Amino acid sequence: MTTRNFLFLLGSSRTGGNTETLARLAAEQLPAGTEQRWLDLRELPLPDFEDRRHADGHYTPTGNAATLLEATLAATDVVIASPLYWYAVSTSTKRYLDHWSGWLEAPDVDFKQRMAGKTLWGVTALADTEPEVADPLAGTLRNSARYLGMRWGGVLLGNGTRPGDVLTDTGAAARAKVFFS
Ligand SMILES: Cc1cc2nc3c(=O)[nH]c(=O)nc-3n(C[C@H](O)[C@H](O)[C@H](O)COP(=O)(O)O)c2cc1C
Repeated sequence: MTTRNFLFLLGSSRTGGNTETLARLAAEQLPAGTEQRWLDLRELPLPDFEDRRHADGHYTPTGNAATLLEATLAATDVVIASPLYWYAVSTSTKRYLDHWSGWLEAPDVDFKQRMAGKTLWGVTALADTEPEVADPLAGTLRNSARYLGMRWGGVLLGNGTRPGDVLTDTGAAARAKVFFS
C-alpha cells in the first residue's frame, strides 16, 4: 500500500485563523502513518506571476517557487486551505495557482503528468452563513483539478469571522471529522 503524503497550503493573511483551525481539525482524523507537510504561503511569498508561455517559454522555478513546486510534486494529496476572500481564493493562493501555469511550461518537470492522479482538496472559512457564496472558490479548485487530471476531494467549509469562531460551527466540526475519509 502506498503511503499518502498530504501537503497543506495555508493561504490566510493571518496566523491562527479559522481556515487553518478547520484544516487541522480535519487532519487530526488522517490515519496514522499518513505524512503531513504544512506550508504557509505567507512564509514562502511568490513573485507576481509573469506569463511567458508565448515569449521565450523558459521558466525555471527558483527560491520559494522551487520549494513549493518540490512540495507539490512530492504530495499525493494537495490541500488548499484558503479563506474565502471576495468569494474566491486569497491572493497568495491564487498566485500559487497561477505559478502552476509556469510549472506546466518548465522544462523537464512534466508537471501535468505528475499532477495527474493526485487528489486536490479545499478547506475554507467564510463569514457568510450561506455556503453557496463559496461556489466560485469551489469551482476554481474543482475545475483546476479536472484540468490537471487530478481527483477532486471536495471542499470543507466552516463559518467564522474572528479567529476561533469556526470551533463553534458544530456542523463544520462534524464534517471535518470525516472529510478525508
Ligand atoms: C479581504 C477579505 C475578504 C473577505 N471576503 C469574504 C467574502 O467574500 N465572503 C465571506 O463570507 N467572508 C469574507 N471575508 C471574511 C473571511 O472569510 C472570514 O473572516 C474568515 O474567517 C477568514 O479566514 P481566516 O480566519 O482563516 O483568515 C473576507 C475577509 C477578508 C479579510
